[in-house]
Amino acid sequence: MDSTRFYDDNASTFVEQTFNVDMAKLRSRFLKNLPKGASILDAGCGSGRDALAFKQAGYDVCAFDASSEMVAEATSRSGLPVRQMRFENFSWERDFDGVWACASLLHVFRRNLPMVFQRLAKNLTPDGVIYASFKYGSDERRRKGRYFNDMTRELIDPLLQMTPELAMFDFWISKDQRPERGSERWLNCLFKKVGGQQACTQGSGDIRDRYPELSEGRDTIYE
Ligand SMILES: C[S@@+](CC[C@H](N)C(=O)[O-])C[C@H]1O[C@@H](n2cnc3c(N)ncnc32)[C@H](O)[C@@H]1O
Repeated sequence: MDSTRFYDDNASTFVEQTFNVDMAKLRSRFLKNLPKGASILDAGCGSGRDALAFKQAGYDVCAFDASSEMVAEATSRSGLPVRQMRFENFSWERDFDGVWACASLLHVFRRNLPMVFQRLAKNLTPDGVIYASFKYGSDERRRKGRYFNDMTRELIDPLLQMTPELAMFDFWISKDQRPERGSERWLNCLFKKVGGQQACTQGSGDIRDRYPELSEGRDTIYE
């Protein structure tokens, strides 16, 4: 079963469980890399929680989701014209300074991630930034009708080797922000558009020269 079907069938429960989750710390680590009033695309926006927060903070926000039910929820909650679209055939008529893909790329088949990263990078401004989060782990698995592409820092590198437009400049592991799921871990990644240079942070001296902020990331818990 396509993961989208799960969200169509469980939209109101999912929104109830996620709309009020406090994601402010995660958002701020992304936002500090963007200019004031930047354009942001909330990709796989779910309830519209983060699209609304970005809008209220004065950013220029667009959003999309594959599930028609989630699109309806996000539209009514954010007041933004949310589009129904899939990552796998993503295209937009404008570029964005930032793409926020919170717990959404985790439903894209791992083999499709390089192609999806390339599509997203195409609509990033020069030096644009992508935030993506995945459940921490190395499995590809199905659970209750959803496909999950779990991710570690080590699994990111081969994906980026196929996506020379992007370099990872920060990553960290966080706890699930829902109190009842505090034992679950997430891998959070920040990627920067680097104009077709070698992508991964390991062994890429040229990238480090151009972007001194590129780091190995930190395997720390970010509360
Ligand atoms: C776990 S929810 C996260 C929602 C929201 N970003 C959040 O943090 O609360 C995953 C979302 O990704 C959407 N999604 C799943 N597969 C997708 C795909 N292939 N393209 C676009 N969105 C997708 C789902 O409909 C769902 O709204």
